Amino acid sequence: MSRMQPALFLAAAMLTFAASQASAAAEIVSYRLDVFPILDSRCVACHKPGGEGYQKSGLDLSTYDGLMKGTQHGAIVVPGDPLTSNLNVLIEGRAAMAIRMPHNQRPLLKAQQQIIHDWVKQGANNN
Ligand code: HEC
Repeated sequence: MSRMQPALFLAAAMLTFAASQASAAAEIVSYRLDVFPILDSRCVACHKPGGEGYQKSGLDLSTYDGLMKGTQHGAIVVPGDPLTSNLNVLIEGRAAMAIRMPHNQRPLLKAQQQIIHDWVKQGANNN
């Protein structure tokens, strides 16, 4: 009897894990509730008209339209494709150190990076 318990425990743990993975995949990320609060707390101080990041790149992160318009060189979000979206490349540290964002500050938490990653993957909607 006592020899069964570890196996049962493992089976239960695996079921719980599978269930949590499934619900994570089904979660819809909201721009308004999930993404904007991160940008607002970590990016907007520099990326709004008059801010240092806006002056240098033309990127205004204070609105959805500004985010989707991108920099003076063009879009930083490719809806559905976080791997090539510059927004994700820069905050995930996949670009040169000098242009990692936030500029010269502690990176976003991995969980915050993931939220923005999932949002782009789901189509970067104004939801
Ligand atoms: C302390 C100010 C500051 C903060 C905070 C900041 N940025 Fe920047 N950002 C800059 C500056 C300055 C530049 C211009 C860099 C350059 O061209 O040398 C820039 C440029 C950019 C660019 C354009 C890069 C390019 O190659 O064209 C993107 C995209 C960007 N920032 C995204 C973000 C995001 C997303 C956040 C928040 C996670 C953020 N930034 C936070 C200052 C900041």
